[in-house]
Amino acid sequence: MSIRSARQHTLESAMEAAVEAARWAPSVHNTQPWTFSVSGEEISLKADTDRKLRVGDASGRELSISCGAALFTLRTALRCHGYEPVVRVLPDPDRPSLLATLRPGAETSPDETVRLLGEQIERRRTHRAGFAEVPVPDRLIDRLVRAAAAEGAELTPVRAPAAVDMLASLTRAAQGVQSQDRRFNLEVIRWARPPGSSRDDGVPATGYPRHAVRTDPDFPQRDYAWRHDWGGEGGAEPGLGVVALLTTAGDGREDWISAGEALQHVLLHAAAYGVSAAFHTQVLEMELLREFLRVEVCSGRYPQMIMRFGVTFDDDTAAVRRSLADVTR
Ligand SMILES: Cc1cc2nc3c(=O)[nH]c(=O)nc-3n(C[C@H](O)[C@H](O)[C@H](O)COP(=O)(O)O)c2cc1C
Repeated sequence: MSIRSARQHTLESAMEAAVEAARWAPSVHNTQPWTFSVSGEEISLKADTDRKLRVGDASGRELSISCGAALFTLRTALRCHGYEPVVRVLPDPDRPSLLATLRPGAETSPDETVRLLGEQIERRRTHRAGFAEVPVPDRLIDRLVRAAAAEGAELTPVRAPAAVDMLASLTRAAQGVQSQDRRFNLEVIRWARPPGSSRDDGVPATGYPRHAVRTDPDFPQRDYAWRHDWGGEGGAEPGLGVVALLTTAGDGREDWISAGEALQHVLLHAAAYGVSAAFHTQVLEMELLREFLRVEVCSGRYPQMIMRFGVTFDDDTAAVRRSLADVTR
């Protein structure tokens, strides 16, 4: 094999491995609203708008965050395979669903941090219950704040009990309203997988406990089981963990994509140190509640994710993803 074709072969394997890895990014209700294509020395990441939540996410904000998480995963995987990614976000105004293109740039050898992040891509899981009563070190939270900042977003740990109470109350209110709304319920149910389902998207019944232990204050989970007796056994961990908000200065598609990159950077870094995250994004799907949060709690910045970080010994959920063939075009 000539030097040129050997280089081409290595490049192609790195790009394929990056796409393979990107499938494992988190996405709202595990909708996996993305497609990838590899052409020459370029990977394209496109939004699959057929997978957008019409009720909970009419603007496509959560879809873009999910795709942003896939973008960070592509970047990390390319680095792990020895290439510095050259990224263009929203490169073509005439093709709005083309969210980003990546080219493998200069050869690089991944440092320890990049390798650690890369190792978490398939291992990381969303947690949907309380946490063990094990503190999350302040130093790690500081690192997560810096990880989000590196992607142009802000992660703010919410420490004041009054602010934590307010976020929990808003989450209960949003969950209460959504659970009375037939359109929301039908949408959540559409993305909940019944026990034993062979679907490769949606939230598996093993992904949440049948009877979650309440945290104090209580941050309710989404009702994926809705009137069914679904859900795993779950554990009895009651800890709240560290509540945090991910915000951006603006609220356009570029901001949402960078919020997604920040989210995945933060999640992979946390996972590398044994810390998991639970999400409570119901409030952010209701325009008035989101605006209230923006003004009253986020100093005018736009809230993109509400999370709790903690340690758990209970996560044994098997993750499901669409096949490589299904997500490549
Ligand atoms: C924008 C966004 C919003 C999310 N909101 C919630 C949520 O409100 N509740 C929840 O349990 N999980 C939420 N998730 C997590 C997804 O359900 C999860 O990523 C998906 O099911 C895949 O599972 P995994 O993260 O374990 O791989 C959210 C993820 C994203 C990217």
